[in-house]
Amino acid sequence: MDISAPKVRRIGVLTSGGDAPGMNAAVRAVFRACVNRGIDCIGIRRGWNGLINGDVFRLDQKACSHIIDRGGTILFSARSEEFKTPAGIQKAVNTCKLIGMDGIVAIGGDGTFRGALELSKSGISVVGIPGTIDNDISCTSYTIGFDTAANTAIEAIDKLRDTMQSHERCSVVEVMGRGAGHLALYVGLATGATAVLVPEEKIDYERDVIEKIRAARLNGFTHYMIVVAEGAASAFDVAAEIKEATSLDPRVTVLGHIQRGGSPTGRDRVTATRMGYYAVEVMAAGKTNRIICERSGKITDVDIEEGLSMTKTLEQQDVDTLHAMTGIDS
Ligand code: F6P
Repeated sequence: MDISAPKVRRIGVLTSGGDAPGMNAAVRAVFRACVNRGIDCIGIRRGWNGLINGDVFRLDQKACSHIIDRGGTILFSARSEEFKTPAGIQKAVNTCKLIGMDGIVAIGGDGTFRGALELSKSGISVVGIPGTIDNDISCTSYTIGFDTAANTAIEAIDKLRDTMQSHERCSVVEVMGRGAGHLALYVGLATGATAVLVPEEKIDYERDVIEKIRAARLNGFTHYMIVVAEGAASAFDVAAEIKEATSLDPRVTVLGHIQRGGSPTGRDRVTATRMGYYAVEVMAAGKTNRIICERSGKITDVDIEEGLSMTKTLEQQDVDTLHAMTGIDS
């Protein structure tokens, strides 16, 4: 703790971008950490739009009670086009000045942090907390919401498998993840998928799907589960390729936004709580423009610009494991 740091009296908290289970737990943690330090905590509704429009209210015990277990976000979320403009940033700065906020804790993903970076250039201190089901923030090994979303997809695929097994069918399931395959890879490993397609690897249908179905059939299987990341291909296109090559008649399921809902798992609640607490500590210590990260199980922080410039690849050990589990080595 830097005792020379100016006293932080009031901070705002918002959730932005695609919501993620555990965002409420993070809001609660920020609020409680503020109370603990005698800091006034302001809720900002509807992401960066709320900061632009002055859509703010004082967070209190009532608003934050019994939300640790709730999906969605009590602060609402949005993707703001106006915040990408200089005029939008200026309006947000004006709101900060009017309300007397010393800084903002922004919970969200990549787009949220890019907005935070622009705001910080106008002299407003911002700390970001990674909340997205995609787990695609490079500077952190984990983002709030991933575990809940993965478990939702796993539960759905387990159910699909039952009916696919009965009817000896092929199922193609599309999972979210934007341009990243973390969710698909994890879900594919957890469900024992026949094949998994991720955007990080160039698709060769014959090698990556058809041969794996054939190998499964030759090993006595009569139903097949293909998991495809939305960033890799459309599940309908994958199904068409399978039909053409094998004469199977695959059923397609796009899991979609169901993956973003639901009560957060223990891992998401605890990570959100640890990150929310740490974000307030970072701000109280006078640090500015940071992203809170999890690294080797510890919560830490990095500079926003540095964090955004990093790249994240799939865990090679997981990719190798997947190749071994799906029968054909890369
Ligand atoms: O970033 C989270 C995410 O759910 C992605 O996985 C997905 O591509 C996107 O958001 C969907 O966005 P929207 O809710 O705007 O359709």
